[in-house]
Amino acid sequence: ETEPIPERPALPLIGHALDIPGGAEGLAYVMKEAKELGPLFKLRIFGTEINFVSGLDLVSELADESRFRKNVHPDLVILREIGGDGLFTAYGDEPNWRKAHDVLMPAFSLGAMRGYHATMLKVARELIAKWDRAAGELAVDVAADMTRLTFDTIGLCGFGYDFESFRRDEPHPFITALARALDFAQAKGESIPGAELFQWKKAEQFRNDVTLMKDLVDDVIRQRRADGDQSTDDLLGRMLHTRDEVTGEPLDDVNIRYQAITFLIAGHETTSGLLSFALYYLTKHPAVLARAQAEVDALWGDTADPDPQYADIGKLTYVRQILNESLRLWPTAPSYAVEPLADTVIGGKYAVRQGESLMVLIPQLHRDPAWGDNVELFDPERFSAEREAARPVHLFKPFGNGERACIGRQFALHEATLVLALLIHRFRLIDHTDYQLKIKQSLTLKPDNFTLNLARRDSGE
Ligand code: HEM
Repeated sequence: ETEPIPERPALPLIGHALDIPGGAEGLAYVMKEAKELGPLFKLRIFGTEINFVSGLDLVSELADESRFRKNVHPDLVILREIGGDGLFTAYGDEPNWRKAHDVLMPAFSLGAMRGYHATMLKVARELIAKWDRAAGELAVDVAADMTRLTFDTIGLCGFGYDFESFRRDEPHPFITALARALDFAQAKGESIPGAELFQWKKAEQFRNDVTLMKDLVDDVIRQRRADGDQSTDDLLGRMLHTRDEVTGEPLDDVNIRYQAITFLIAGHETTSGLLSFALYYLTKHPAVLARAQAEVDALWGDTADPDPQYADIGKLTYVRQILNESLRLWPTAPSYAVEPLADTVIGGKYAVRQGESLMVLIPQLHRDPAWGDNVELFDPERFSAEREAARPVHLFKPFGNGERACIGRQFALHEATLVLALLIHRFRLIDHTDYQLKIKQSLTLKPDNFTLNLARRDSGE
């Protein structure tokens, strides 16, 4: 016997669309609904049905890749106008997914991280130089500076291209175009079907923004081809000069462009949000900050300019716990979706059809009762070695699932650990506005309008 998936009473045609607030409130709304309606519920938005899943048992069941695969849900379909059949937005049966995955995997091995370390450090030092100048003088816009850092890092590590974000007062034009394009994509996903006809000016802006991103990437590729470099040390080198083992072919030019745009976006947005949330939590939890500072001080002492080694990153276990706990409360890519490979029953009683979208609401999974009491409390102890070993595998999913999980996970964690450790080693973080967390959502999450004052720890102030 099967039961219908829980949902609130819906209007004909419109479904629940009128109940759902737009933008950042959308996430708060579905999280509240999950609390009230349980680990699985359905929303209908005009013709589209979305099932939201957030309980540990169901998420564990959906992790089985013999029954489910990634679903390219409506928001991702819109994103395909930017990322095409690049890794993030590719359908499961598109041949370029496997091909690009195989070509690019070695660029994300542990050995590859060793190769990126020096470049990550170089960009981190540009951030520190900027914050040194600001210390005692000006407040810094945390998310904007973290975006400068992560964007320049992926540009240099992935493409050998310097976006020089720390030499600009305004964000790089790619970032501005991307932010606007993501807002447009998000609004389009939420709007009444057909309403985009009346949005032609915005649609035109969107096309211009996509063109700007494509042109920039073409420029990056042209520059590499022109300098005749045949190495396969970075993402671009691998894409241009390795042949896929199965087909014997390299990736085609159109696909390389899509992959490059995908990496420039996926490679910076989420890591920037992660660092911003971590800094926010540290300003609100002085005991956690003190313990983290003790960890970095034990490693680097009170040297003004430490020289972090690759091997140091693995020793910063408490800093890593802070990052994990930040990703628990605000996983910066807050959902991923899967679909059944064939009609099936989930949770022992809910019938779902082949291809139907099952959206995992990660922030709610990360507040499942299996995390213990006080799930809203920021507590890096949840990620101590003992408790990690005892945790059910699928209770923590900030990087998605299975073979379509995040390819850049090690990259993000290496970069974020290095940068957070350097920042807390050098600065006191002064919460000059008594900041109240407000989340900005544009597919990914960030603290909105979070600024800090800084003081050098070694200044004796
Ligand atoms: C996929 C999260 C950093 C590149 C994903 C997915 C998640 C995720 C949840 C799965 C999406 C889905 O199933 O629809 C994150 C988070 C990050 C992060 C939270 C930082 C804290 C990065 C970085 C890179 C990257 C640094 C690149 C350098 C990708 C790519 C995919 C992906 C290419 C698609 C993989 C595939 O389907 O083959 N990420 N990511 N991500 N991520 Fe990340």
